[in-house]
Amino acid sequence: MALVALGVCGGIGAYKAVEVARGLQQRGHDVAAVLTANAARFVGPLTFEAITRRPVAGDQFAPGVNAQIEHIALASDLQLLLVVPATANILGKFANGIADDFLSALYLATTAPVLVAPAMNTNMLAHPAVAANLDRLAERGVRFVEPGEGYLACGWVGRGRLAEPADVVAAADRMLGAGRSLAGRRVLVTAGPTVEDLDPVRYLGNRSSGRMGYAIAAEALARGAQVDLVAGPTALEPPAGAEVFRVRGAEEMRTAVMARVAGDGDAVDLVVMVAAVADYTPAGGARDAKLLRDRDELVLTLRRTPDILAALGRWRAGRDRPVLVGFAAEVGDPVARAREKLRRKQVDLVVANDVSRPGAGFGGNTNVATLVTDTEAEEIPLGTKRELARVLLDRVEPRLAPLASGSEGAT
Ligand code: PMT
Repeated sequence: MALVALGVCGGIGAYKAVEVARGLQQRGHDVAAVLTANAARFVGPLTFEAITRRPVAGDQFAPGVNAQIEHIALASDLQLLLVVPATANILGKFANGIADDFLSALYLATTAPVLVAPAMNTNMLAHPAVAANLDRLAERGVRFVEPGEGYLACGWVGRGRLAEPADVVAAADRMLGAGRSLAGRRVLVTAGPTVEDLDPVRYLGNRSSGRMGYAIAAEALARGAQVDLVAGPTALEPPAGAEVFRVRGAEEMRTAVMARVAGDGDAVDLVVMVAAVADYTPAGGARDAKLLRDRDELVLTLRRTPDILAALGRWRAGRDRPVLVGFAAEVGDPVARAREKLRRKQVDLVVANDVSRPGAGFGGNTNVATLVTDTEAEEIPLGTKRELARVLLDRVEPRLAPLASGSEGAT
């Protein structure tokens, strides 16, 4: 599953972009629609919102949009920018670096591959200005789904007709397939907090939103992996394509993880423990009745929770899989403590985040981290959680055990 930003421009073919969105979803991709102001005159944003189940981006200057600088956030998360239909106007903006709306700004801000499906009147397409823009974009690596010949909405017959939606979807899928380096792999990711119930209304919890774990799950899916996502309580929508197991407390998370890793099913190739697992839980479990507010001080006795990652480290001893990755939320210089955890829990890599640094750790879309192995520490500067997920998986992939024969190979 990959995230595709589907740019839609103001041409009669805009309605066909709806079919393209459906086609991409049917192939397991996640679609974020970006409509230009003129596209919204042809097809309502609500149509795309209902189909993609994501808010539609359009107005770069709408209140709220800049709280997270959305075109930058989307630019770093997507695997493909696809524009259907691409008008002469947007091609001119792309070719000349003009960024006066969300879609043109997104083109400049993303490093993802770009695929465009031009559609316009025959003479417009043949005009030297448009031809020069197309040439310039091709030189930069932009790919095209060539327009077809036929009856055009303007009444002419000739070249300029938007390619068929199925052809656009197939071209997009081919481009996305090029990076499926985890095809045939099974990856288990834990995400979010665990919460330890005190009584029927209260619990001990933490600030994990699940974003970091979900970003890793989404990146693994984009690379073609089969992903099991064991998630503590979080309000986030999980990435499409992951098999999601909802859990609540640390003990429940342990059971879910061990069943998947040590059970009878297919071997898990990689476990990434991103979840902020509670270290303590009320001794004796949650009380049946609500704790009363009947004393000045209340003393709770807590007992240590099972260390899931350490249990995985013990289980893996003498086996060639799974590769084990932990996360460490630390304050101050995190490397020494991360390395101590790496050795004690017998894992291959620990992602240390100093949660006291601005933009790092809990809640937001960004993180700052150091990838700590037994011998090395690689600093990853401030970036989106999805960017960190990419670097992490790039580093982990060479450590994976060879695929069992008969499994689908990486392409
Ligand atoms: O969810 P977000 O809002 O995006 O925030 C992301 C994050 C800050 C939660 C994430 O980046 C992170 O740092 N996760 C690990 C937090 C943590 O619990 O660190 P720790 O140092 O306490 O644990 C070390 C490792 O052991 C972790 O991989 C943890 O999953 C694991 N662990 C901890 C306790 C326990 N009982 N069992 C475990 O398996």
